[in-house]
Amino acid sequence: MNYSEKVMDHFINPRNVGEIENADGIGEVGNAKCGDIMKMYLKIDEDTITDCKFKTFGCGAAVATSSMATEMIKGKSIDDALKLTNSAVMEALDGLPPVKIHCSVLAEQAVKAALTDYYTKQGIDPEPIVGKVPEMEEE
Ligand code: FES
Repeated sequence: MNYSEKVMDHFINPRNVGEIENADGIGEVGNAKCGDIMKMYLKIDEDTITDCKFKTFGCGAAVATSSMATEMIKGKSIDDALKLTNSAVMEALDGLPPVKIHCSVLAEQAVKAALTDYYTKQGIDPEPIVGKVPEMEEE
């Protein structure tokens, strides 16, 4: 299997690994098939994601995609983070082998799950804004 240099870089030196104390939103998602789990922490000020960290109990592609996803949403608005798709993350990493696409889906879902948690904590119904985020992906 061939991984791009960017994937290898983010796998070996993942950015923003860890937890955020008093995070404003925490999301955890998993994939039922491979059993991998991803946890995303967001710090939000007004409408901006000021900090973002992740922990992944998963494969190398899961580490690389979550690392890239955190870089892509840090300092951005919630709106931008909501628009983050797994294909954008894959593109930023110069692609992933087809069997690893679901790993990037996990990264997208983890961001959305953290935003769901953020809105819930604010007393706002997250579903019309974020959509439905499955805790477990079947694919
Ligand atoms: Fe499951 Fe990568 S193999 S997230």
